[in-house]
Amino acid sequence: MACSQQVAVWTLLVTIATLLASISAKSSTTLGLTTFDESFKIRYGGENQILRSKDGRAVSLSMTKRTGSGFESKDKYLFGQLSMKLKLVPGDSSGVVVCFYSHSMTEDHDEFDFEFLGNKSGEPVILQTNIYADGNGGREERIFLWFDPAEKFHTYTILWNHNQVVFYVDSFPIRVLRNTPQSQHFFPKVKPMYVFSSIWNGDDWATRGGLDKVNWTNAPFFAHYKDFKMNGCVYNGGGDPAPDCVSPFYSETWWSRHDELNDVELRKLEWTGTCGMQ
Ligand SMILES: *[C@@H]1O[C@H](CO)[C@@H](O)[C@H](O)[C@H]1NC(C)=O
Ligand SMILES: *[C@@H]1O[C@H](CO)[C@@H](O)[C@H](O)[C@H]1NC(C)=O
Repeated sequence: MACSQQVAVWTLLVTIATLLASISAKSSTTLGLTTFDESFKIRYGGENQILRSKDGRAVSLSMTKRTGSGFESKDKYLFGQLSMKLKLVPGDSSGVVVCFYSHSMTEDHDEFDFEFLGNKSGEPVILQTNIYADGNGGREERIFLWFDPAEKFHTYTILWNHNQVVFYVDSFPIRVLRNTPQSQHFFPKVKPMYVFSSIWNGDDWATRGGLDKVNWTNAPFFAHYKDFKMNGCVYNGGGDPAPDCVSPFYSETWWSRHDELNDVELRKLEWTGTCGMQ
């Protein structure tokens, strides 16, 4: 697979880029960092399925035979950069689906979706993304991750402004939807969204189309989270689109001004395209 062959080259480039970035971005690394309880609440599964770290900045979600678990943001956001670090279920994770997504929770909903489809030990994990606008989805795209997402934490980010929605894995854009005149009717831009994550049993479809079931001898299954960064315009009601979030102040925020990919990002996007699946 071209995607994994080029990893060595990219690892080198990324190391250089990371060094440069760490010189210039010292101050922005903690921007928007919140504790779990500041930004989120439990959606289902209950308290004993969600373990918090002592400092409240990391949580582990579990799935048992009885139930999966999930959390949701307290606020709705209209545009922003929404990101968190995830470390997924190690070993045989067949049938276990972990997702991180935003959803307007309205009729004819808008949604941005990262879904990790578990797989047998040692087999690559598929990351599926999807976009819904006005209730229309069916825009799934799948890539093989170029690393084992259960080995350590990686950052998953949704960048959303007037001009583009970008799905990032670490610093790599893997998918972009631009707000062009042609895509106008597909571009979510008026409905604020909540942020969600969950771990659940998807073994009727997730792994090899449902052939590989959850192996319950390995339960409970854990997905780990940390470094929650919800940098966005918090929607406080008042119209459609939310007046605050489309005001001049917010159009000057850094996430709004990142309105197109730079050259390095474009090259990375092209490269992650080689991780795609037919
Ligand atoms: C699991 O691994 C196999 C073998 O590499 C691969 O064909 C399959 O697409 C992977 N993912 C899923 C979700 O089945
Ligand atoms: C399920 O997991 C157990 C314990 O790890 C293992 O012994 C068994 O072979 C697994 N079953 C399948 C069908 O993979």
